[in-house]
Amino acid sequence: MAINSFKDVQDFINQFLNANGDMPDVPTSPHKDFWNSLTYTQFTQGNIPGVTDNKNNPVRILIPHNSAMSTLIQVLNGTSTVFDQMPADGPPFFDKTQVKELADWIDAGCQE
Ligand code: HEM
Repeated sequence: MAINSFKDVQDFINQFLNANGDMPDVPTSPHKDFWNSLTYTQFTQGNIPGVTDNKNNPVRILIPHNSAMSTLIQVLNGTSTVFDQMPADGPPFFDKTQVKELADWIDAGCQE
């Protein structure tokens, strides 16, 4: 399923968590379900709520047109040098094909 809107992004993450029975653990995370609670602008231009990096700085969720530099993609692929692979209580984790769909949406400029 191609991701063509912010709503698709929210559905994509929620469906994965629901399918794996993982949704109940999200409230124990520092960031909660930020993909549902943030506005489109906050999600695409803002920082992840409740989380700082190892230098105590805020962390951008993503960078439009640059999935490789987007923390969201790094954490789902398990390639972040700062954060654990998400969801932090996985497996299961998103597979590479699933993450690629989200990366394509970011690389195309995060269509609203
Ligand atoms: C920019 C993206 C994200 C960052 C920086 C981030 C960071 C973190 C951090 C620091 C924790 C605390 C536990 C730990 O350090 O391992 C955590 C927990 C968690 N995260 Fe994330 N996260 C991100 C995105 C996501 C996404 C998209 C999901 C869902 C697919 C997710 C699911 C979870 C869950 C379920 C926990 C709690 C696990 C538990 O307490 O049992 N995170 N996250």
